[in-house]
Amino acid sequence: MSGRFEGKKAVVTGGTHGMGLAIVRGLLDGGAEVVVTGRNEKTLEEARTALKGTKSHVVRSDAASMADIAALADLVQQRIGLVDHLFVNHGYAHFSELAEVTEESWDRHFNVNAKGAFFTVQALDPLLTKGGSVVFTTVANDRVFPGMSAYSGSKEAVGAFAHVLAGEFLPRGIRVNSVAPGFIATPSMGMIGLTPEQRAEFVEEGNRATPMGRAGTSEEVAAAALFLAAEATFSTNVELAVDGGFAQGLSAEWAADSH
Ligand SMILES: NC(=O)c1ccc[n+]([C@@H]2O[C@H](COP(=O)([O-])OP(=O)(O)OC[C@H]3O[C@@H](n4cnc5c(N)ncnc54)[C@H](OP(=O)(O)O)[C@@H]3O)[C@@H](O)[C@H]2O)c1
Repeated sequence: MSGRFEGKKAVVTGGTHGMGLAIVRGLLDGGAEVVVTGRNEKTLEEARTALKGTKSHVVRSDAASMADIAALADLVQQRIGLVDHLFVNHGYAHFSELAEVTEESWDRHFNVNAKGAFFTVQALDPLLTKGGSVVFTTVANDRVFPGMSAYSGSKEAVGAFAHVLAGEFLPRGIRVNSVAPGFIATPSMGMIGLTPEQRAEFVEEGNRATPMGRAGTSEEVAAAALFLAAEATFSTNVELAVDGGFAQGLSAEWAADSH
């Protein structure tokens, strides 16, 4: 039986762990050939080991570097030729309240998350196939989370240009959609430099704040992203929340009341 991605070529930025890796695994299981990027040598090596023997190409490419983005486009062309499905999933988040946000951390958020996402799509645009798809990973921004202003702003920018790109890609039949995760129990919880204790605390916070009473899994986000890429053939310009109700106007207390 042929898989849902048989013969397809895909690129996943930030695919070395967490939900990006779950997207990569879903693509590979479905028969795709996948270029996977990351920045950190240790996680890149772990991903290479985990994906050994599959149709994957795990490469270092810093989304904040225009030179790396250009080199990525060359590599993608050489290794897989065209791109049917592009997942712009990489992300950088550092927890800092207003007074602690430095110009450097602001620039880092916007360079990696916003600029990096935008110019990745621009660089790979010539390789995108007619009828293909782009899926961005944003965040459940309809509900505020203190300490995440710079991060949320940078992801809001991604959501905004995703809408415009959905229009620009219409003539080529390329659909542009986003997944907006809430609390997802990934190795990093989407946050840079958490200690194991802080991560556990963050998972606990997610369980408390999420109406469904738990953090989501990487696989749950991947399922939504892969659906948008492959099966949602009449959907474009959609941001699909994968957040257990976190940003959907439901209160976690209502769930607690019923237990
Ligand atoms: N986990 C959550 O609760 C949550 C919630 C909402 C949204 N998100 C968003 O969902 C996406 C995935 O999150 P996650 O928790 O699975 O993982 P993550 O820790 O946010 O990392 C995602 C990926 O981004 C890569 N990355 C980071 N900086 C990069 C850079 N400068 N250039 C290239 N790649 C870079 C990481 O690779 P290396 O480690 O190799 O650098 C990793 O593969 C991110 O966009 C995140 O912001 C996460």
